[in-house]
Amino acid sequence: MRIGVLTAGGDCPGLNAVIRSVVHRAVVDRGDQVIGFEDGFKGLLEGRYRSLDINEVSGILARGGTILGSSRLERHRLAEACDNAEAFRHKLSLDALIPIGGEGTLTAASMLSAAGIPVVGVPKTIDNDISATDRTFGFDTAVGVATEAIDRLKTTAESHQRVMVVEVMGRHAGWIALEAGMAGGAHGICIPERPFQIDDLCKMVEDRFARGKKFAVICVAEGARPAEGSMPYERGEIDSYGHERFTGIGQRLANELEHRLGKEARAMILGHIQRGGTPTAYDRVLATRFGWHAVEAAHRGEFGMMTALRGTDIVMAPLANATAELKRVPQNRMDETEAVF
Ligand code: F6P
Repeated sequence: MRIGVLTAGGDCPGLNAVIRSVVHRAVVDRGDQVIGFEDGFKGLLEGRYRSLDINEVSGILARGGTILGSSRLERHRLAEACDNAEAFRHKLSLDALIPIGGEGTLTAASMLSAAGIPVVGVPKTIDNDISATDRTFGFDTAVGVATEAIDRLKTTAESHQRVMVVEVMGRHAGWIALEAGMAGGAHGICIPERPFQIDDLCKMVEDRFARGKKFAVICVAEGARPAEGSMPYERGEIDSYGHERFTGIGQRLANELEHRLGKEARAMILGHIQRGGTPTAYDRVLATRFGWHAVEAAHRGEFGMMTALRGTDIVMAPLANATAELKRVPQNRMDETEAVF
């Protein structure tokens, strides 16, 4: 078989582990040819690719980022790709395409599949918000980074009797904030799924100070927002990829708390550090398993599907409904925290 692989959307620790695993299983075990498209779907559209052999993927298991490069694709270019799907397939002699990506990439993969390209998707995202899979690789690494940040912020917050607001990634789903907040013992967790009441956060901080605990750490997802009328907050614009531009909830929350409480508050935006660097052992294993199963699915002719983790097993899930609904934090998971809304 001739298999194409690409990484698209925001990068994520574990992408290289999937690429390596695809090459090991396909080239070494199955005798296939693997080509890697550069910079996501752009490489596919522009015919930029290189052959991937065992030497090319040697030593990349623990490396963050993606050796293939990644990019987001404007919607009109995706439509162009779908319109010319058959031509692409024949020109590139592709027997299978393995796109590795998050919600946007898997939606694009589903469209390309419907347009006639034999696609096996592999889900990735630090956000862990793909409903068809119990976990995505990258999430464990991001939670680890955010947890370490909370641990570190606690000691400096305590020394200075400050309120620290740590903003983590999570546009529509607050999984990183929830799990890092729990693991780090944050005193407040704010997620996009549950608009927060600023009064409740103020009360939590005041109660802590009254008990002699003169500091607090609040973990807030970038997509979290205050309940209507709770505090001033403007939504950002939508960019050319359909994403809302965030206006910095972490800093706004810190300012508001400082203003209302008369206590020093600082904001810390973790940003892309959550996505950089080496993947955890968990993410390396999940990514490796996804790569192996994607090649096997291609050999079985199971196209229009993506790899997914269910319990401890890897199964194949239809791409068409993989992204129909985002996996968001349910109320019962928030109930398990001592969070403040
Ligand atoms: O979807 C993954 C993600 O890391 C989100 O958590 C985050 O909002 C977004 O990508 C950031 O995108 P960019 O790298 O384009 O700024």
